[in-house]
Amino acid sequence: MEARGLRFLRPRQVLFLFLFWGVSLADSGFGHYWVTEETERGSFVVNLAKDLGLGQEELAARGARVIFEDSKQHLLLDSHTGNLLTNEKLDREKLCGPTEPCMLYFQILMDNPFQIYRAELRVRDINDHSPVFRNKEMILKIVENTMEGTAFRLERAQDSDGGRNSVQNYTIDPNSFFHIKISPSDEGIIYPELVLDKALDWEQQRELILTLTALDGGSPPRSGTTTLRIVVLDINDNAPQFARVLYETQVPEDSPEGSLIVQVSAGDVDSGVNAEVSYSFFDASEDIQTTFEISPFSGEIILRALLDYELIKSYKINIQAIDGGGLSSKCTVLVEVLDTNDNPPELIMSSLSKYIAENSPETVLAVFRIKDPDSGDNGKMLCYIQDNLPFLLKPSVDNFYILTTEGALDRESQDVYNVTITVTDLGTPRLKTEHNITLLVSDVNDNAPAFTQASYTLLVRENNSPALHIGTISATDADAGTNAQVTYSLLPPHDPQLALASLVSINADNGQLFALRSLDYEALRAFEFGVRAADRGSPALSSQALVRVLVLDANDNAPFSLYSE
Ligand SMILES: *[C@@H]1O[C@H](CO)[C@@H](O)[C@H](O)[C@H]1NC(C)=O
Ligand SMILES: *[C@@H]1O[C@H](CO)[C@@H](O)[C@H](O)[C@H]1NC(C)=O
Ligand SMILES: *[C@@H]1O[C@H](CO)[C@@H](O)[C@H](O)[C@H]1NC(C)=O
Repeated sequence: MEARGLRFLRPRQVLFLFLFWGVSLADSGFGHYWVTEETERGSFVVNLAKDLGLGQEELAARGARVIFEDSKQHLLLDSHTGNLLTNEKLDREKLCGPTEPCMLYFQILMDNPFQIYRAELRVRDINDHSPVFRNKEMILKIVENTMEGTAFRLERAQDSDGGRNSVQNYTIDPNSFFHIKISPSDEGIIYPELVLDKALDWEQQRELILTLTALDGGSPPRSGTTTLRIVVLDINDNAPQFARVLYETQVPEDSPEGSLIVQVSAGDVDSGVNAEVSYSFFDASEDIQTTFEISPFSGEIILRALLDYELIKSYKINIQAIDGGGLSSKCTVLVEVLDTNDNPPELIMSSLSKYIAENSPETVLAVFRIKDPDSGDNGKMLCYIQDNLPFLLKPSVDNFYILTTEGALDRESQDVYNVTITVTDLGTPRLKTEHNITLLVSDVNDNAPAFTQASYTLLVRENNSPALHIGTISATDADAGTNAQVTYSLLPPHDPQLALASLVSINADNGQLFALRSLDYEALRAFEFGVRAADRGSPALSSQALVRVLVLDANDNAPFSLYSE
């Protein structure tokens, strides 16, 4: 390893020594020459003969020649004049790129004796390039509310020129949000930084368009521009805002399920999900949750169940709007339920006697109460009965009513009364309730049986067969039941000699009269007696009638002479 390293070292040492020797041979100075880039071919650089202190002839005689290190013939030596001229238009940027100063090294060789002069040609820069941004437009996205003073590094512009002719400064259109700060990097390059002077507000301005200018140091300076588009990014810095803090609405209690009650709406000035608002009930009671429904997207509040003014007259609903970023706000909806006449009046019977004794003075028949849970006129009531009845309806406290008779009733003239108690409210439309009661007048034995005739005359013939039906008497009783059940009987005769009981009998139930034996006109031409009709009332009532029986003669006797002949 070591031996091999030594062997390789030797030729290098030889080369180095040779160069050193050559240089030492030419120890007549080091030529510094310059030329401005882009000058025409053949431009004068230096008179080499003069510069080296040689005669023109000597320079030519010694075969002076110029050799560049990059083996290119950038310069020409005119051996007659000793002038060193450009052999081409030199482009500094092509030769050296960003390196500045731009140096081309070359040697001047001469023979007899052999000599080497070292020299350098500096190609001087001219400001022949403008700064150029890679893109015509730069997009910079900045989140709103970013802190003032925050710096954003921008892409720099390129300028092929070197030194002072390269980019030296950046500027931006005057504006209230940004200024440009120039930061040098380690390599001596400058970078533009955009510094925020004032917080951005997406809700105020979503985009700014500024022109960024890069200036080089030439005289006059050249410049290049790019459009700087600053896109402000929204953050969720705004809660949804309700159009109103309080919504008030009135809803008739008979609104069907599915009715739209009200639509709430909240806007959010943010963007994207930060502006997506959804609605919900907040702190809602069981009642509200079962009665209403809110669409999370539209904010429509829909009726889910039927309202009942008599139960709940108003609802206070808190609504929350929440955006996609979680910011929320609230509003209140006041729902006033309007009464509709949806309840007919009610009649509650407390006591009722269906029977009234006739002939009684004013009597209480029924006590009842009426009610209507509706409000206003919908709950005001009228109560009445037919006006052709001998009854009175008397209002009492607390919607109580008392139904009485006007006075004594006569069962025999009317024994049944159909009473319709009507209760109506004053709503629109009017609702009414009817309550029918049937009142029965009970009988009192206030009528005696009445005979169809005050007296009866019966003809009936002598010599009849015994037990002959000779006639019927009849009495009716206006009362009812046993008070109207009539029984007949014979009254004792006025003439005590009349043996009535052996002559006539009467059927107690139907008033049929029978002759008990054969009557003899010649013995009894006529007779009369009283009959009685009695009811079974307690006490019983009765009446009487007279019955006259005329016996008709039959030709039952042969003529006979009063005188004997
Ligand atoms: C860059 O330009 C600005 C605006 O014209 C100027 O105020 C500033 O002095 C310049 N900076 C340099 C380093 O030339
Ligand atoms: C009472 O109502 C009944 C049944 O509706 C009917 O048969 C009867 O005739 C009515 N009586 C009176 C007096 O209106
Ligand atoms: C009550 O009686 C009236 C008259 O007879 C009749 O028109 C009505 O329908 C009855 N009402 C009810 C509730 O029975």
